[in-house]
Amino acid sequence: MTTTTTPSAPGGTPEIRKGLAGVVVDTTAISKVDPASNSLLYRGYPVQELAARCGLEEVAHLLWHGELPTPGELDDLRERERSHRALSPAVRAVVDAIPTTAHPMDVVRTAVSVMGAHDPAAEDPSREATLDASLRMLAQIPAVVAYDQRRRRGQDLVEPREDLDLAANLLWTTFGEEPAEVVQDAFRTSLVLYAEHSFNASTFTARVVTSTLADVYSAVVAAIGALKGPLHGGANEAVMRLFDEIGDASRADAWLERALAEKRTIMGFGHRVYKNGDSRVPTMKAALDRLVDHYGRHDLLALYDALEQAMAARKPIRPNLDYPSGPAYHLMGFDTATFTPLFVVARVTGWTAHVMEQRAANALIRPLSHYDGPGERHLA
Ligand code: ACO
Repeated sequence: MTTTTTPSAPGGTPEIRKGLAGVVVDTTAISKVDPASNSLLYRGYPVQELAARCGLEEVAHLLWHGELPTPGELDDLRERERSHRALSPAVRAVVDAIPTTAHPMDVVRTAVSVMGAHDPAAEDPSREATLDASLRMLAQIPAVVAYDQRRRRGQDLVEPREDLDLAANLLWTTFGEEPAEVVQDAFRTSLVLYAEHSFNASTFTARVVTSTLADVYSAVVAAIGALKGPLHGGANEAVMRLFDEIGDASRADAWLERALAEKRTIMGFGHRVYKNGDSRVPTMKAALDRLVDHYGRHDLLALYDALEQAMAARKPIRPNLDYPSGPAYHLMGFDTATFTPLFVVARVTGWTAHVMEQRAANALIRPLSHYDGPGERHLA
């Protein structure tokens, strides 16, 4: 490992990059985010092509193994994913013990911790064991998310169906009815778009935990914690709360004027890497348009457009993926607090791919800080 020193400014204060903005901390072969060309590639494939042609299962294989699955590999992955779909009694017992006042992200975070505690191979760092754990989480997290929304509504568990893919089965186990094709397609698209995005805050968190040689479940639990915040994954939920607050397209402009005057952060807008628009937004917006037609909710689209236009008239800050995903999940029937757990369902594929990549060329992630507290002093 090569070691570089932090450049010092005159006077000895090191250069500090708050939030690690612009700092390149490692290489990755998993995805490429290119703000200049406004593109996102998973293992070389444009995410738009993957969203049009693949489900989360194929993308999981691509992220974990570097190549899309052959038909035989896909059959095998599907069979194994389906074999782990039923909510385990141990996880269900813990979920049932969590009050419904808790945020659903707390439930998913706790459930993954329980999954790890019940996996006898959790401490096995081999690639085979990590792939197996990743597949279990890919299959089990949707079961937790679906059951948690149902129990909050006083509804019983719906057993999974083996004839449906992951996305359709998640809709089935949440709502107890087979969703229309257009809804399945939009949901599948959102999962593919959410699957991976290089060194974002939650993925970096997973890599930090992995760098200490902790197990994959610990890395995912920590990543879920990082994703929960509204500056990251929690933004899809926060977007819907903004829409509820504004209420109607006719009020969007005045609402934004006031919100910006109050220095509020407008959720669903802005991005640390993309400064000219998020590469994933057009694909998700097209899916949202189809949902709007399907559900006849042009009022929601009018509000979406009005807020985006009001923002564009004032600041060069463009929507990110959470902006179309929030209203899309709302139209599908998910509770607002369930939106970020849906992000977990998808992103666990990217997180676990990064866990494996970090392990393959590990170095403990341990940056430095510049102390600016009191000088040395002593007890009287
Ligand atoms: N609303 C209002 N102002 C904003 C927003 C926003 N959403 N985003 C950025 N700005 C402003 C900042 O206040 C800052 O203004 P200033 O220069 O006058 O101080 C300027 O734009 C630059 O913003 P930074 O905060 O420096 O940009 P940074 O890269 O740190 O932030 C972030 C990126 C955190 C995503 C930010 O845009 C934000 O808070 N957005 C809202 C939350 C959100 O939607 N997060 C989802 C991210 S994408 C994802 O997780 C799928």
